[in-house]
Amino acid sequence: MKKIVVTGGLGYIGSHTVVELQLAGFEVIIIDNLSNASEAVLQGIKNITGTLPTFEKLDLRDKQTTISFFKKYEDISGIIHFAASKAVGESVTNPLLYYENNLSTLITILKQIQHKKNISFIFSSSCTVYGQAETMPISENAPIQQAYSPYGNTKQIGEEILKDTAKIAEGLQVISLRYFNPIGAHESAEIGELPNGIPQNLVPFITQTAIGLRKQLSVFGNDYPTEDGTCIRDYIHVVDLAKAHVTALKRLLEKMNKTSFEVFNIGTGKGSSVLEVIESFERVSHQKLNYKIVDRREGDVISAYADTTKANTILGWKATSTLDEAMLSAWKWEQKIRTK
Ligand code: UD1
Repeated sequence: MKKIVVTGGLGYIGSHTVVELQLAGFEVIIIDNLSNASEAVLQGIKNITGTLPTFEKLDLRDKQTTISFFKKYEDISGIIHFAASKAVGESVTNPLLYYENNLSTLITILKQIQHKKNISFIFSSSCTVYGQAETMPISENAPIQQAYSPYGNTKQIGEEILKDTAKIAEGLQVISLRYFNPIGAHESAEIGELPNGIPQNLVPFITQTAIGLRKQLSVFGNDYPTEDGTCIRDYIHVVDLAKAHVTALKRLLEKMNKTSFEVFNIGTGKGSSVLEVIESFERVSHQKLNYKIVDRREGDVISAYADTTKANTILGWKATSTLDEAMLSAWKWEQKIRTK
């Protein structure tokens, strides 16, 4: 059984990916510092797959412990690297935290693995690297725009670090996955998103409002140049996204990659407006959502959805869930965690 390390494996996307890895027959070792995740997620994973993954509580900023970790697990075949901070606003007020958490840890890991004979590496990147792209849908050839937040910058620089390192490290093969907007939860409602404090993202804010935790959802602007005036995003079911990681990992393990550093957009290819997401929620939950239109949020791009041709044809992966299915899973998860 091939051993795969998943950093940030107790987090939202990480935990769903651990499940798909186990179901695909991999042995998983999770690293997490529990800064934005709970150890209870391990039980949720076990309830789905029947297997408890190995868990090492470790902060990747601690170099010595990280070095010891890679000595202990020297027979690993791959790493899926999720561990990072992701709040755009916080990155503006505390940039060094973001550069340290998202970049110095990446360098520490790469130093430990760059001399390995064969190591596959999957990086969590974001469509934020494209900024407001000029044409829709966004293909991997769209120019990288100047990042407007330190968070976005760490994703751009992270990709550069990996590209340069993979050029000289013979055994290192990298795929960077540029995610669009992950939403939803595992259909079993055993694992899902656990936002810290007030959610910044749309879908957890919707479900928390519906369950009565928040009074009202603010829709940030309805005067954008889109059909209904609200922003357009490409919302992808987190389980589809998790499966993309397994497909990308297999591509590297089976040496199907064309270059030592490849990128793929991971989205559905379909854009939905904020109001369409609300309508979808109302449809699947059979209730009205309390929301009001407020001013635009600073820094929001008008529209971002993926051209998935490269992921579909070269990677051989395709999102299969609909927006309604994703919203229903998010709602089931919210109901489950509030009635515990
Ligand atoms: C945001 C980040 C992105 C990051 C991603 C990680 C910004 C500008 N972008 O994506 O870089 O990779 O999170 O999770 O912060 N909305 C509301 N009301 C709300 C919340 C959101 O109307 O309470 C709207 C937003 O204006 C946007 C859409 O919903 O149009 C999606 O917002 P969000 O979930 O925050 O995702 P992004 O902004 O796309």
